[in-house]
Amino acid sequence: MGNVILIGFMGCGKSTVGLKLSYRLRKSVTDTDKEIEKAEQRSISDIFSTDGEAYFREKETECLRKLLKTSGNQIISTGGGLPMREENRKLLHQLGQVVYLRAKAETVYERLKYDTSRPLLQGEHPQEKIRSLMAQREQNYVEASDIIIDVDGKDFEQIISEIEKLI
Ligand code: S3P
Repeated sequence: MGNVILIGFMGCGKSTVGLKLSYRLRKSVTDTDKEIEKAEQRSISDIFSTDGEAYFREKETECLRKLLKTSGNQIISTGGGLPMREENRKLLHQLGQVVYLRAKAETVYERLKYDTSRPLLQGEHPQEKIRSLMAQREQNYVEASDIIIDVDGKDFEQIISEIEKLI
């Protein structure tokens, strides 16, 4: 079946869906954010505050290149901003089937309103930040994906069985 890659905005459920799907399909799971944190020995917030977003984006591309060499039959969940680079969208398509978990801004806000681990959503007016980032990103998510699943109001079981039917 090859790799199945999950993309989508922060808080859309990529990591949890990835983990549950990996149990269901008996595949291993890799999370690009966790791979980067492991390699760097520090959190994403630390990477952003010390070396900046551009540095982190470079690490994301490196991570995809490495996965292309090493992985073949996995579930891969990705950071929400990863599909914004054109090179990364190409790498994603080469890696396997790309599933976009599409969530509404309200859903994301409800899930992340107390979260402190996403540097891009800290500070004032998180709802507006979510809305404007999402609008900027939507087209790239669509372009990067083979399959789109709307996740609002659905539980993980529903989302996973929809994915299973489509891959
Ligand atoms: C980001 C999403 C985060 C993480 C970083 C940047 C983004 O991952 O990669 O904070 O630009 O959307 P999640 O989508 O897993 O929250």
